[in-house]
Amino acid sequence: MRIPMMAGNWKMNCDNPAAVELAKGIVEGSANALGCEVIVCPPFTALSAVNDVTKDSPVSLGGQNFFWKADGAFTGEIAADMLLCCGCEYVIIGHSERRGRFGATDEDFAEELQSVFGDNDATVSIKLKAAVDAGLKPIACCGELLSEREKGMTDAIVSDQVRAMLDGCSEEQLHSVTIAYEPVWAIGTGEVCEADEANRVCGLIRAVVAEVAGQETADNMRILYGGSVKPDNVEGLMAQAEIDGGLVGGASLKADSFCTLIEVAGRAKRA
Ligand code: 13P
Repeated sequence: MRIPMMAGNWKMNCDNPAAVELAKGIVEGSANALGCEVIVCPPFTALSAVNDVTKDSPVSLGGQNFFWKADGAFTGEIAADMLLCCGCEYVIIGHSERRGRFGATDEDFAEELQSVFGDNDATVSIKLKAAVDAGLKPIACCGELLSEREKGMTDAIVSDQVRAMLDGCSEEQLHSVTIAYEPVWAIGTGEVCEADEANRVCGLIRAVVAEVAGQETADNMRILYGGSVKPDNVEGLMAQAEIDGGLVGGASLKADSFCTLIEVAGRAKRA
């Protein structure tokens, strides 16, 4: 039985007072949510303040990114231990916005800007193992661009990303890994992937995990969908067998809408 998960990626939103307010709303609003693990991923600057709110609650804390070195001259980067010190249990890795696809929904997006944040399949693979070894639970993202979907490349792109991120991982390292399927064209656009198509791709991801790490690991791994998840489309998504929860941007910035998502995910998976 996979426990459903609803993770809020706050991205570059919320100064500390706003983050504390939002965290309080989520802790209160999800207090009676049954059967769904809740994670919030504020900006680095708000982690400690949010941890003060969440630490005695069932809500867990995650970072939005980290760098795999333990310390050193890496200006602007954050190490796994620093996230752990702030109370983080989880960390998002390989988000398409970190892969440099910020806002890119078509080929017009300048090639040189697509790697501006630097993550790629190789760095995501390093980060995944480094996160697990440091004691963080990674939420590793994959997903195709609109142009790739239009060319019929979705399955090949997503499978390759998943194979690359899992490359060299032991089965034990994979126990704490969650994968999030986030089609880039659905992120922040209001254009959600149809529930049955999202389910199909999440099933494909599970098949790749089974091929790499065995069926049992695949059956136990949580696979989330992300991309314009909202209260009005969450029922259909959570009803899908291969979708174990959501990685949510915009709708996680309002306590009431995020708590609706949490409640629906818990109910759908209990049914
Ligand atoms: P939205 O829910 O705003 O589309 O963002 C999804 C996302 O990128 C979560 O990581």
